[in-house]
Amino acid sequence: MDMPDFSSISSRPTIFEFEGISMINHFTENWEKVKNFQARPDDILIATYPKAGTTWVSYILDLLYFGENAPEEHTSQPIYMRVPFLESCFKVIASGTELADNMTTSPRLIKTHLPVQLIPKSFWEQNSRVVYVARNAKDNVVSYFHFDRMNIVEPDPGDWNTFLHRFMDGKSVFGPWYDHVNGYWEKKQTYSNLLYLFYEDLVEDTGREVDRLCSFLGLSTSVSDREKITKDVQFDAMKQNKMTNYSTLPVMDFKISPFMRKGKVGDWKNHFTVAQNEQFDEVYKEKMKNATVKFRTEI
Ligand code: A3P
Repeated sequence: MDMPDFSSISSRPTIFEFEGISMINHFTENWEKVKNFQARPDDILIATYPKAGTTWVSYILDLLYFGENAPEEHTSQPIYMRVPFLESCFKVIASGTELADNMTTSPRLIKTHLPVQLIPKSFWEQNSRVVYVARNAKDNVVSYFHFDRMNIVEPDPGDWNTFLHRFMDGKSVFGPWYDHVNGYWEKKQTYSNLLYLFYEDLVEDTGREVDRLCSFLGLSTSVSDREKITKDVQFDAMKQNKMTNYSTLPVMDFKISPFMRKGKVGDWKNHFTVAQNEQFDEVYKEKMKNATVKFRTEI
Protein backbone atom coordinates (compact mmCIF):
# COMPACT_ATOMS: atom_id res chain seq x y z
CA MET A 1 0.00 0.00 0.00
CA ASP A 2 1.05 3.61 -0.56
CA MET A 3 2.05 5.48 2.56
CA PRO A 4 -0.13 8.55 3.06
CA ASP A 5 1.92 11.77 2.82
CA PHE A 6 1.33 13.93 5.87
CA SER A 7 4.30 16.24 5.24
CA SER A 8 1.98 19.17 4.53
CA ILE A 9 0.85 19.06 8.18
CA SER A 10 3.49 21.11 9.90
CA SER A 11 1.94 22.44 13.08
CA ARG A 12 -0.13 20.91 15.83
CA PRO A 13 -3.87 21.65 15.80
CA THR A 14 -5.47 23.89 18.37
CA ILE A 15 -8.44 22.93 20.50
CA PHE A 16 -11.77 24.77 20.20
CA GLU A 17 -15.34 24.27 21.37
CA PHE A 18 -17.59 22.48 18.93
CA GLU A 19 -21.12 21.20 19.59
CA GLY A 20 -20.46 21.52 23.31
CA ILE A 21 -17.17 19.60 23.45
CA SER A 22 -13.47 20.26 22.83
CA MET A 23 -12.44 19.41 19.31
CA ILE A 24 -9.78 19.93 16.64
CA ASN A 25 -10.42 20.68 12.99
CA HIS A 26 -9.49 17.18 11.74
CA PHE A 27 -12.71 15.96 13.31
CA THR A 28 -15.05 18.82 12.46
CA GLU A 29 -14.25 19.86 8.89
CA ASN A 30 -16.35 17.10 7.41
CA TRP A 31 -19.17 17.65 9.88
CA GLU A 32 -22.11 17.95 7.50
CA LYS A 33 -21.18 14.61 5.93
CA VAL A 34 -20.69 13.03 9.34
CA LYS A 35 -24.00 14.31 10.63
CA ASN A 36 -25.83 13.10 7.53
CA PHE A 37 -23.94 9.82 7.26
CA GLN A 38 -26.14 7.00 6.06
CA ALA A 39 -25.70 4.01 8.32
CA ARG A 40 -26.81 0.55 7.24
CA PRO A 41 -28.65 -1.97 9.41
CA ASP A 42 -25.69 -4.37 9.37
CA ASP A 43 -23.06 -1.72 10.19
CA ILE A 44 -21.13 -2.21 13.41
CA LEU A 45 -20.09 0.98 15.10
CA ILE A 46 -17.11 0.72 17.46
CA ALA A 47 -17.40 3.64 19.84
CA THR A 48 -14.80 4.60 22.41
CA TYR A 49 -13.22 7.47 24.22
CA PRO A 50 -9.77 7.85 22.58
CA LYS A 51 -7.24 5.30 23.88
CA ALA A 52 -9.75 2.94 25.48
CA GLY A 53 -8.94 -0.05 23.26
CA THR A 54 -10.48 0.93 19.91
CA THR A 55 -7.85 -0.78 17.79
CA TRP A 56 -7.99 -3.91 19.87
CA VAL A 57 -11.75 -4.37 19.48
CA SER A 58 -11.60 -3.27 15.84
CA TYR A 59 -9.11 -6.02 15.11
CA ILE A 60 -11.10 -8.64 17.01
CA LEU A 61 -14.19 -7.77 14.98
CA ASP A 62 -12.21 -7.64 11.76
CA LEU A 63 -10.90 -11.16 12.38
CA LEU A 64 -14.30 -12.46 13.45
CA TYR A 65 -15.89 -11.28 10.23
CA PHE A 66 -13.10 -11.44 7.69
CA GLY A 67 -10.37 -13.52 9.34
CA GLU A 68 -9.64 -16.60 7.30
CA ASN A 69 -11.44 -15.78 4.09
CA ALA A 70 -10.62 -12.14 3.65
CA PRO A 71 -9.68 -11.02 0.15
CA GLU A 72 -6.05 -9.95 -0.29
CA GLU A 73 -6.97 -6.30 -0.86
CA HIS A 74 -8.59 -6.35 2.56
CA THR A 75 -5.85 -7.97 4.63
CA SER A 76 -3.06 -5.99 2.98
CA GLN A 77 -4.61 -2.79 4.32
CA PRO A 78 -3.81 -1.53 7.81
CA ILE A 79 -6.61 -1.53 10.33
CA TYR A 80 -7.20 2.23 10.04
CA MET A 81 -8.13 1.72 6.38
CA ARG A 82 -10.24 -1.38 7.03
CA VAL A 83 -12.15 0.27 9.83
CA PRO A 84 -12.95 3.84 8.77
CA PHE A 85 -12.72 6.51 11.46
CA LEU A 86 -16.08 8.18 10.92
CA GLU A 87 -15.35 11.79 11.84
CA SER A 88 -11.74 11.94 10.69
CA CYS A 89 -10.81 14.19 7.82
CA PHE A 90 -7.09 14.61 7.27
CA LYS A 91 -7.23 15.68 3.64
CA VAL A 92 -4.17 13.56 2.77
CA ILE A 93 -6.08 10.36 3.42
CA ALA A 94 -9.68 9.63 2.46
CA SER A 95 -12.10 10.92 5.09
CA GLY A 96 -13.89 8.43 7.31
CA THR A 97 -17.22 8.97 5.60
CA GLU A 98 -15.67 8.58 2.15
CA LEU A 99 -13.90 5.34 3.14
CA ALA A 100 -17.11 3.98 4.65
CA ASP A 101 -19.25 5.01 1.69
CA ASN A 102 -16.88 3.22 -0.68
CA MET A 103 -16.58 -0.01 1.28
CA THR A 104 -17.47 -3.12 -0.64
CA THR A 105 -17.21 -5.61 2.22
CA SER A 106 -19.98 -6.06 4.75
CA PRO A 107 -20.67 -5.65 7.49
CA ARG A 108 -18.89 -2.33 7.60
CA LEU A 109 -16.90 -1.87 10.79
CA ILE A 110 -16.77 1.84 11.57
CA LYS A 111 -15.00 3.47 14.49
CA THR A 112 -15.86 6.70 16.26
CA HIS A 113 -14.82 8.67 19.32
CA LEU A 114 -17.87 10.91 19.25
CA PRO A 115 -19.89 11.13 22.44
CA VAL A 116 -23.26 9.44 22.18
CA GLN A 117 -25.22 12.66 21.62
CA LEU A 118 -23.21 13.41 18.44
CA ILE A 119 -23.57 10.00 16.78
CA PRO A 120 -25.28 10.45 13.39
CA LYS A 121 -28.93 9.64 13.91
CA SER A 122 -29.07 7.14 11.06
CA PHE A 123 -27.21 4.59 13.24
CA TRP A 124 -30.07 4.63 15.74
CA GLU A 125 -32.73 4.73 13.00
CA GLN A 126 -31.18 1.73 11.27
CA ASN A 127 -30.81 -0.07 14.58
CA SER A 128 -27.14 -0.70 13.77
CA ARG A 129 -25.12 -2.58 16.34
CA VAL A 130 -22.80 -0.55 18.55
CA VAL A 131 -19.86 -1.93 20.52
CA TYR A 132 -18.65 0.50 23.16
CA VAL A 133 -15.36 0.02 25.01
CA ALA A 134 -14.64 1.88 28.22
CA ARG A 135 -11.32 2.01 30.05
CA ASN A 136 -10.67 3.19 33.58
CA ALA A 137 -10.10 6.92 33.63
CA LYS A 138 -6.59 6.90 35.06
CA ASP A 139 -5.07 4.50 32.54
CA ASN A 140 -7.09 6.16 29.82
CA VAL A 141 -5.61 9.59 30.48
CA VAL A 142 -2.07 8.19 30.70
CA SER A 143 -2.43 6.44 27.35
CA TYR A 144 -3.93 9.59 25.81
CA PHE A 145 -1.00 11.67 27.07
CA HIS A 146 1.61 9.44 25.44
CA PHE A 147 -0.42 9.27 22.25
CA ASP A 148 -0.57 13.05 21.99
CA ARG A 149 3.15 13.32 22.65
CA MET A 150 4.05 11.16 19.69
CA ASN A 151 1.31 12.09 17.20
CA ILE A 152 1.75 15.38 15.34
CA VAL A 153 -1.87 15.56 14.26
CA GLU A 154 -2.95 15.75 17.89
CA PRO A 155 -2.82 18.97 19.91
CA ASP A 156 0.35 19.66 21.88
CA PRO A 157 -0.27 17.82 25.18
CA GLY A 158 1.95 20.11 27.25
CA ASP A 159 3.47 18.50 30.31
CA TRP A 160 1.82 15.65 32.18
CA ASN A 161 0.30 17.82 34.89
CA THR A 162 -1.24 20.20 32.33
CA PHE A 163 -2.64 17.31 30.32
CA LEU A 164 -4.05 15.61 33.40
CA HIS A 165 -5.82 18.78 34.52
CA ARG A 166 -7.28 19.34 31.06
CA PHE A 167 -8.72 15.83 31.26
CA MET A 168 -10.08 16.42 34.77
CA ASP A 169 -11.68 19.67 33.56
CA GLY A 170 -13.40 17.78 30.72
CA LYS A 171 -11.51 19.79 28.10
CA SER A 172 -9.70 16.95 26.31
CA VAL A 173 -10.49 16.42 22.64
CA PHE A 174 -13.81 14.55 22.33
CA GLY A 175 -15.01 16.08 25.56
CA PRO A 176 -15.27 14.88 29.13
CA TRP A 177 -14.41 11.22 29.68
CA TYR A 178 -17.02 11.15 32.46
CA ASP A 179 -19.92 12.11 30.16
CA HIS A 180 -18.65 9.84 27.40
CA VAL A 181 -18.65 6.63 29.43
CA ASN A 182 -21.93 7.53 31.12
CA GLY A 183 -23.66 8.64 27.95
CA TYR A 184 -23.23 5.26 26.28
CA TRP A 185 -24.12 3.43 29.49
CA GLU A 186 -27.38 5.37 29.68
CA LYS A 187 -28.05 4.74 25.99
CA LYS A 188 -27.65 1.00 26.56
CA GLN A 189 -30.63 1.08 28.92
CA THR A 190 -32.99 1.89 26.04
CA TYR A 191 -31.08 0.73 22.97
CA SER A 192 -30.63 -3.03 23.06
CA ASN A 193 -28.21 -3.22 20.13
CA LEU A 194 -25.39 -1.77 22.20
CA LEU A 195 -22.76 -3.96 23.86
CA TYR A 196 -20.74 -2.23 26.57
CA LEU A 197 -17.28 -3.70 27.13
CA PHE A 198 -14.49 -2.81 29.52
CA TYR A 199 -10.81 -2.77 28.58
CA GLU A 200 -9.98 -4.34 31.94
CA ASP A 201 -12.25 -7.31 31.17
CA LEU A 202 -10.52 -7.78 27.83
CA VAL A 203 -7.15 -7.85 29.59
CA GLU A 204 -8.43 -10.25 32.24
CA ASP A 205 -9.88 -12.79 29.82
CA THR A 206 -9.82 -11.94 26.13
CA GLY A 207 -11.41 -15.25 25.12
CA ARG A 208 -14.40 -14.66 27.38
CA GLU A 209 -14.95 -11.20 25.87
CA VAL A 210 -14.59 -12.60 22.33
CA ASP A 211 -17.36 -15.04 23.28
CA ARG A 212 -19.51 -12.15 24.49
CA LEU A 213 -18.95 -10.36 21.20
CA CYS A 214 -19.91 -13.49 19.27
CA SER A 215 -23.15 -13.87 21.25
CA PHE A 216 -24.01 -10.22 20.78
CA LEU A 217 -23.33 -10.37 17.05
CA GLY A 218 -25.00 -13.76 16.59
CA LEU A 219 -21.80 -15.31 15.21
CA SER A 220 -21.30 -19.04 15.32
CA THR A 221 -17.51 -18.97 14.99
CA SER A 222 -15.91 -22.34 15.75
CA VAL A 223 -14.07 -22.87 19.01
CA SER A 224 -10.76 -23.31 17.20
CA ASP A 225 -11.25 -20.09 15.20
CA ARG A 226 -12.05 -18.23 18.39
CA GLU A 227 -8.94 -19.60 20.04
CA LYS A 228 -6.81 -18.53 17.09
CA ILE A 229 -8.35 -15.06 17.08
CA THR A 230 -7.79 -14.72 20.81
CA LYS A 231 -4.12 -15.53 20.23
CA ASP A 232 -3.74 -13.17 17.27
CA VAL A 233 -5.15 -10.22 19.20
CA GLN A 234 -2.82 -10.47 22.17
CA PHE A 235 -0.76 -7.35 22.79
CA ASP A 236 2.58 -8.77 21.60
CA ALA A 237 1.08 -10.20 18.42
CA MET A 238 -0.63 -6.92 17.55
CA LYS A 239 2.53 -4.97 18.38
CA GLN A 240 4.48 -7.07 15.86
CA ASN A 241 1.76 -6.88 13.23
CA LYS A 242 2.30 -4.01 10.76
CA MET A 243 -1.40 -3.97 9.96
CA THR A 244 -2.32 -3.21 13.58
CA ASN A 245 0.65 -1.38 15.13
CA TYR A 246 0.24 1.88 13.19
CA SER A 247 3.85 1.78 12.01
CA THR A 248 2.56 2.64 8.52
CA LEU A 249 1.21 6.00 9.65
CA PRO A 250 4.01 8.57 9.40
CA VAL A 251 2.40 11.09 11.77
CA MET A 252 3.44 8.99 14.73
CA ASP A 253 6.95 9.12 16.14
CA PHE A 254 7.56 5.77 17.80
CA LYS A 255 10.89 7.03 19.15
CA ILE A 256 8.80 9.17 21.49
CA SER A 257 6.25 6.44 22.27
CA PRO A 258 4.93 3.47 20.30
CA PHE A 259 1.24 3.16 19.48
CA MET A 260 1.15 -0.27 21.09
CA ARG A 261 2.74 1.15 24.21
CA LYS A 262 2.17 -1.07 27.26
CA GLY A 263 -1.29 -2.57 27.04
CA LYS A 264 -1.54 -2.86 30.83
CA VAL A 265 -4.04 -2.17 33.57
CA GLY A 266 -2.70 0.08 36.32
CA ASP A 267 0.09 1.89 34.46
CA TRP A 268 -1.31 5.11 35.96
CA LYS A 269 0.56 4.25 39.14
CA ASN A 270 3.81 5.02 37.28
CA HIS A 271 2.56 8.49 36.36
CA PHE A 272 0.32 9.99 39.07
CA THR A 273 1.93 11.64 42.07
CA VAL A 274 0.19 11.10 45.41
CA ALA A 275 -1.19 14.66 45.23
CA GLN A 276 -2.42 14.24 41.65
CA ASN A 277 -4.11 11.01 42.62
CA GLU A 278 -5.92 12.59 45.56
CA GLN A 279 -7.09 15.50 43.45
CA PHE A 280 -8.17 13.19 40.64
CA ASP A 281 -10.17 11.01 43.04
CA GLU A 282 -11.95 14.05 44.41
CA VAL A 283 -12.93 15.32 40.95
CA TYR A 284 -13.89 11.79 39.88
CA LYS A 285 -16.18 11.34 42.86
CA GLU A 286 -17.97 14.58 42.11
CA LYS A 287 -18.30 14.05 38.35
CA MET A 288 -19.40 10.43 38.70
CA LYS A 289 -21.73 10.91 41.66
CA ASN A 290 -24.86 10.27 39.59
CA ALA A 291 -23.29 7.73 37.24
CA THR A 292 -24.77 4.26 37.07
CA VAL A 293 -21.82 2.77 35.18
CA LYS A 294 -19.40 1.13 37.58
CA PHE A 295 -15.71 0.70 36.98
CA ARG A 296 -13.52 -1.69 38.91
CA THR A 297 -12.31 -0.14 42.12
CA GLU A 298 -9.20 -2.27 42.66
CA ILE A 299 -7.28 -0.69 39.76
P1 A3P B 1 -1.48 1.95 26.28
O1 A3P B 1 -1.08 3.30 25.76
O2 A3P B 1 -1.88 1.99 27.72
O3 A3P B 1 -0.48 0.89 26.00
P2 A3P B 1 -6.84 2.90 21.07
O4 A3P B 1 -6.77 1.78 20.11
O5 A3P B 1 -8.22 3.23 21.52
O6 A3P B 1 -6.11 4.09 20.56
O7 A3P B 1 -6.14 2.43 22.42
C1 A3P B 1 -4.76 2.22 22.47
C2 A3P B 1 -4.44 1.58 23.80
O8 A3P B 1 -4.91 0.22 23.76
C3 A3P B 1 -2.95 1.53 24.06
O9 A3P B 1 -2.81 1.54 25.49
C4 A3P B 1 -2.60 0.18 23.46
O10 A3P B 1 -1.39 -0.36 23.90
C5 A3P B 1 -3.79 -0.64 23.98
N1 A3P B 1 -3.97 -1.89 23.23
C6 A3P B 1 -4.10 -2.05 21.89
N2 A3P B 1 -4.16 -3.36 21.58
C7 A3P B 1 -4.07 -4.04 22.75
C8 A3P B 1 -4.04 -5.43 23.10
N3 A3P B 1 -4.11 -6.37 22.19
N4 A3P B 1 -3.93 -5.74 24.42
C9 A3P B 1 -3.85 -4.80 25.36
N5 A3P B 1 -3.86 -3.47 25.09
C10 A3P B 1 -3.96 -3.10 23.81
